[in-house]
Amino acid sequence: MTKVLVVYHSRTGNTATMAEAVVIGVRNASVDGELKKMDEASLADLIGADGIIVGSPTYFGSVSGEMKQFIDRSVTIRGKLENKIGAAFTSSGSLSGGNETTLLSIIEAMLIHGMIVMGDPMETGGHYGAVSVGHPDEEALKTCTKLGERVADLVKKLAG
Ligand SMILES: Cc1cc2nc3c(=O)[nH]c(=O)nc-3n(C[C@H](O)[C@H](O)[C@H](O)COP(=O)(O)O)c2cc1C
Repeated sequence: MTKVLVVYHSRTGNTATMAEAVVIGVRNASVDGELKKMDEASLADLIGADGIIVGSPTYFGSVSGEMKQFIDRSVTIRGKLENKIGAAFTSSGSLSGGNETTLLSIIEAMLIHGMIVMGDPMETGGHYGAVSVGHPDEEALKTCTKLGERVADLVKKLAG
C-alpha cells in the first residue's frame, strides 16, 4: 500500500492542528497517512514513505531551528528520497511574515533530495503549499486537507 508521511514541528500547536487536517486529506484519498511529530520521526520513516509532507512554524521567515536540524540530519540518506512526492505547510504569526519563504525553504530541501514537489495552480492560493496565519481557521484547514488529498492522489497515480 502507498504511504504518505506528514511530519511537522510545532511549539504552540498551530502547525500541529494543520498537520492533523493534512493527514485527514491523505486518508480521504484512501492512502495510508502517517502523522509524526518531527522528534518522533526517524530517517527510516522518510525512506519508507512514497510521499512526504513537511510542516514547520515560520521563524524569521524560514523553518524553525528544530526543523532545520531535522532537515540537516537527512543528509545521511541522500539519494534515498529521490522521486518521492513532496509538499509543505507552515503557520506564521502575520500575513506577510515570511510564510511563503518558509514553504520555499522546505521545498528547496526536497529538491536537493531529488524529490518531486507538487504545486497548486488554483486561484484560491496555496500555490507553494498550505499556510495559516496564527491558529488555522476553517478556510486554512480546508487548504491543508486539500493538500493531503492532492499529494495522496498523485502518489497513487505514480504507483500505477
Ligand atoms: C522564534 C520565533 C520566530 C518567529 N518568527 C516569525 C516570523 O518571522 N514571521 C511570522 O509571521 N511569525 C513568526 N513567528 C510566529 C510563529 O510563526 C507563529 O506563532 C506560529 O503560528 C507558531 O506555530 P506553532 O503554533 O506551530 O508553533 C515566530 C515565532 C517564534 C517563536
